[in-house]
Amino acid sequence: MDALELLHQRRSMGKLAGPAPTAEQLDALYRAALRAPDHKEMTPYRFIEISGEGLDRLGELFAQSDYQANPHIDEGNLDAARKKPKRAPMIIAVIANVTPGLPKVPPVEQIISAGCAAHAMLYAAYAQGLGAMWRTGTYAHDKTVWRGLGLGDQEELIGYLYLGQPGGRYPGMQIRNPDDYVERWT
Ligand SMILES: Cc1cc2nc3c(=O)[nH]c(=O)nc-3n(C[C@H](O)[C@H](O)[C@H](O)COP(=O)(O)O)c2cc1C
Repeated sequence: MDALELLHQRRSMGKLAGPAPTAEQLDALYRAALRAPDHKEMTPYRFIEISGEGLDRLGELFAQSDYQANPHIDEGNLDAARKKPKRAPMIIAVIANVTPGLPKVPPVEQIISAGCAAHAMLYAAYAQGLGAMWRTGTYAHDKTVWRGLGLGDQEELIGYLYLGQPGGRYPGMQIRNPDDYVERWT
């Protein structure tokens, strides 16, 4: 696939089927991530690759998170939380590792760099015919989940990349006109 075609056409796919990406495909994703722009070459991110029983463990953390928010939650809703990670055969949690107190590389730059890494992985997935979707929601910002995933004091979860084979048709794409977003100083 031509590079510009990829940049202009990439889509997210929420409906994902097995099998999970192969080791070779994943290697291409990580190599793309590691080319993200990165002020002072800090590589301020890491990944947790979750599949198989790991998805059950993640689902248990999601259920714990819901229970802590509402101890009266019923078993049906807890079960729904447990099943959420099973929407894909693999999830990669993208974690920003934010070093505070660097005047030239403030935390926002480090988080942007982690976001660029995640975005690069979406492109690498699409280029290889994989389906992928970046999801967050309450489980991405919840300290119970963060602790369960082993995040350190300086770490933040910036998203879950749901990955697998495209399980449906890509929806129509909104065509945006660049002129609506660009101011030109000449
Ligand atoms: C940081 C971030 C978090 C997101 N979280 C969610 C989410 O929790 N649920 C969701 O349906 N879409 C979420 N999205 C949006 C989708 O990943 C996707 O970009 C959107 O559906 C548009 O599809 P497209 O990428 O094909 O244009 C998120 C996107 C970003 C950048």
